[in-house]
Amino acid sequence: MKALVLAGGIGTRLRPISHTIAKQLVPVGGRPVLHHCLASIARAGVREVGIIVGDHAKAIAGSVGDGSGFGLEVTYLHQPEPLGLAHAVVVARSFLGDDDFVMYLGDNVLADGIDELAAGFRRDRPDAAIVVSHVADPTQYGVAELDGAGRPVHVVEKSPTPPSNLALVGVYFFTPLVHAAVRAIKPSTRGEWEITDAIEWLLTTGRDVRAYEYNGHWTDTGNVADLLACNHALLDLQQGAVDGKVDTESELIGRVVVREGASVSRSRVIGPVVVGTGSTVTDSYLGPYTAIGDDCRIDRAGIDSSVVLDGARLSGVRHLTSCLIGRGARVEAGPSTRLVVGDDAVIRVER
Ligand code: G1P
Repeated sequence: MKALVLAGGIGTRLRPISHTIAKQLVPVGGRPVLHHCLASIARAGVREVGIIVGDHAKAIAGSVGDGSGFGLEVTYLHQPEPLGLAHAVVVARSFLGDDDFVMYLGDNVLADGIDELAAGFRRDRPDAAIVVSHVADPTQYGVAELDGAGRPVHVVEKSPTPPSNLALVGVYFFTPLVHAAVRAIKPSTRGEWEITDAIEWLLTTGRDVRAYEYNGHWTDTGNVADLLACNHALLDLQQGAVDGKVDTESELIGRVVVREGASVSRSRVIGPVVVGTGSTVTDSYLGPYTAIGDDCRIDRAGIDSSVVLDGARLSGVRHLTSCLIGRGARVEAGPSTRLVVGDDAVIRVER
């Protein structure tokens, strides 16, 4: 079995962060979303991975390389325009050959991995398998309708009147039959070739499509709230490890990771927290569920439940909560409020 990872999307719901960084490279739980995805593919015993890339191709290749760091062999496949998930299968046709494959959306995180799902597909070997999970608002997702025996009868993409609350998780298992399906469909009203329509085609032509329910923690990290929730879930799973420096005037409570080259001075840190390589935290408070990237400066600041990307600086600001702070950004206190706000940014100030 091969894997096809989709990392070509543009991430409109993560602007302004996604103007300059691929949404698949935003860190959650202290490492890029895409790295979690590749690690879970490797754990499921798959070696050959095709990664679909678009505008951020260079940055993605820079972060993943040839895949050997994950025990994988990675081939990059260029999708000239983000024309949909089924279109990505067309782009990958020669890479996939006649092999079975798992298609994994590079912005999805399945905290408990895909080993059991992959084992189920290898065991049953149906024509295709979808993965479903209960969600509160199914209008935001592809949705499956199952029969009494748990077999899918219909799948629909982002319907205003979804037939169930079982969302399609961004992990799909296919046999080569999917290639006929992606050629048979037409673009949807949003102008994309939808993988959901290809699966519906398999169902209406009488193929054996199974649905595996995923009960672990799953997130589509496509928007800020879900990304922070994912960061929370992943930090909950981490163990503490101090490889950097922590002075005697600091207090570390709970599971705290201080990576090599990082230093914490005169600060209070309540885990789970990650402080990235080369970052300094001085006279500050880091509250639970905070992931600080590499080479950040946190000085006389207080922050919790947040993700801070590489090279950001926080100085003299307290009570920051549920923030996503971009690379090299500066948040500082001064005599008056002065904002330099990037395109499509969202700022919320305390009432
Ligand atoms: C895509 C799929 C959708 C699926 C979702 C999971 O939506 O089209 O069926 O439920 O991923 O993350 P997108 O996030 O690209 O809008």
